[in-house]
Amino acid sequence: MYQILKTQKLADNIYSFVVKARRVAAKCLPGQFVIVRSDADAERIPLTICDYCREEGTITLVFQVVGAGTLRLSKMSEGNFMCDVAGPLGCASELCNTDIEKLKKMNILFVAGGVGTAPVFPQVKWLSNNGVDCDVIIGAKTKDLVILENEIRNYARNLYVTTDDGSYGSKGLVTNTLEDLVKNKGKKYDLCVAIGPMIMMKFVCLTTKALSIPTTVSLNPIMVDGTGMCGACRVTVDNKVKFACVDGPEFDGHLVDFDECMKRAQIYKTEEGRAYLREKEGDTHHGGCSYCGGEH
Ligand code: NAD
Ligand code: FES
Repeated sequence: MYQILKTQKLADNIYSFVVKARRVAAKCLPGQFVIVRSDADAERIPLTICDYCREEGTITLVFQVVGAGTLRLSKMSEGNFMCDVAGPLGCASELCNTDIEKLKKMNILFVAGGVGTAPVFPQVKWLSNNGVDCDVIIGAKTKDLVILENEIRNYARNLYVTTDDGSYGSKGLVTNTLEDLVKNKGKKYDLCVAIGPMIMMKFVCLTTKALSIPTTVSLNPIMVDGTGMCGACRVTVDNKVKFACVDGPEFDGHLVDFDECMKRAQIYKTEEGRAYLREKEGDTHHGGCSYCGGEH
């Protein structure tokens, strides 16, 4: 059992939980995630690790209420225990496997969209703690939905905030700021890391491709087991089948088939859609998930 030590409402429908999870905290790295269940009957929810403290044995999880499972989770209080916190899952950010001296010579830009700011934070913090500077763009629909601004400001060299409605920072989408920085402000970037809604990552990638900036994205398709068994998180990257939970979640954004990812996420929502995917994907939707009953 995993005790919730602190809860905080970051914005409307967005919560942060500090959870005692000693084994996860001892091993996790930026980019990895956990799958949690609030209780034995609850659904499994994949959540990115937003922060961790090895000494205290805690991890910080940030989530948005998007359905029954996350609503149930949001109702838990400090002192309550979660039934499962499985992880760390997925591969750590590619940055963690790159030579620090090489990183120090690079100009890195993070583009964080909405709740996607949560998985950006540990990467920015990790870089800063290793003496590597980076710039960050945070985009949100409105001022009230900007999260972790101060936390990221503590570690980023430059932080640019954009809101769709102009209620805070500059008005527009993250791609407007990205283009402005490169085309008008003379910024040069060797790498962009974009994390946020799929549609945002798609358009950031179209923008960075035109600007010749290599781009990493972190995909969050529907996940069930998180261990490569069920096929739920199947994505196509460079025309090859990949599973975001074990091969990712990070991929080369210029090679991701975003349209398929978004279409698949829609189809997976219905029983009929899942049956269709079982027929279509066959041997790569290979069983074990609670949705397909382990037939494939
Ligand atoms: P949102 O819809 O408010 O979008 C955030 C920002 O993305 C916007 O402010 C805008 O600047 C940019 N954006 C959106 N559409 C764009 C477009 N067409 N072109 C360019 N920029 C665009 O974000 P939200 O409501 O917080 O997003 C929730 C979604 O994010 C959920 O679907 C969730 O699954 C996903 N998410 C992804 C990750 C991840 O790891 N990739 C993590 C957490 C959440
Ligand atoms: Fe990735 Fe099941 S969640 S294969």
